[in-house]
Amino acid sequence: MKIVIIGGTGLIGSKLVTRLSEQGHEVVSASPSSGVDTLTGAGLAEVLVGAEVVVDVSNSPSFEDAAVLDFFTRATTNILAAETAAGVGHHVALSVVGTERVTDSGYLRAKVAQESLIKESSVPYSIVHATQFFEFFKAIARQATVGDEVHLSSALIQPIAAEDVASAVGRVTVGAPLNGTVEVGGPEIFSFTEFIARGLKAHGDPRTVVEDPQARYFGALLRGSELLPSEGAQRGETPFDAWLDVDVVSGPKP
Ligand SMILES: NC(=O)c1ccc[n+]([C@@H]2O[C@H](COP(=O)([O-])OP(=O)(O)OC[C@H]3O[C@@H](n4cnc5c(N)ncnc54)[C@H](OP(=O)(O)O)[C@@H]3O)[C@@H](O)[C@H]2O)c1
Repeated sequence: MKIVIIGGTGLIGSKLVTRLSEQGHEVVSASPSSGVDTLTGAGLAEVLVGAEVVVDVSNSPSFEDAAVLDFFTRATTNILAAETAAGVGHHVALSVVGTERVTDSGYLRAKVAQESLIKESSVPYSIVHATQFFEFFKAIARQATVGDEVHLSSALIQPIAAEDVASAVGRVTVGAPLNGTVEVGGPEIFSFTEFIARGLKAHGDPRTVVEDPQARYFGALLRGSELLPSEGAQRGETPFDAWLDVDVVSGPKP
């Protein structure tokens, strides 16, 4: 089956392209670097010809509130219109666990807007809600850094390896449309402070993690368990420490 991956060059997208190609599907990566721009609509109609499934794992280049809202609303509107015209039978999108609970995050408000457009569209769909990727710990630390300290709340996080997210999205992609949402999280629950402290320590990063109840996570004041998936969520299998062992050898410093 022909599957188009919007954002197929990204962290999750590139892993999905590999997985689904290995399963024998005709997989096409679509993003600005291959001439497909969902903001302008350029190249969309052409790449969707004959596609049965479209997976949207694109991301906004800017996380600024207005820019990210514009990205997800304009891109999703263009993608869904092109899918309708092309007769695509399944739209799969990757979003974030807890989007609806964290309303003071501009990024998550944009993801809610994306999800609303998908639910209102006539195209059959599946939404995958994933928790924060292990790979994202460096960005979390960066946005929370004040001098040589990293200020984080003790709210809870159940992060997951990008490889396990790609696996979950891949399973949904080859299945029937859910017209609903599935959740996937990692195998362990940490406080934000513990998660980031472990990552920094493994990398020999000298920054000190400071617990700060007023610290914001990309603009959001987290109280406790808003970002945790429900009890019945799928679970990735890779533990954080095992992922860190590989990341320390292969990855750049946070
Ligand atoms: N980070 C997390 O912890 C987390 C957790 C849950 C869910 N998510 C969701 O996961 C999704 C994928 O994230 P990611 O980290 O894999 O993304 P990423 O690595 O930043 O990749 C972004 C992709 O979007 C493409 N793109 C950017 N602008 C585009 C445009 N105008 N038209 C078409 N494609 C465009 C890029 O293409 P080029 O390479 O050609 O520029 C790239 O392939 C996001 O929607 C995010 O909300 C993230």
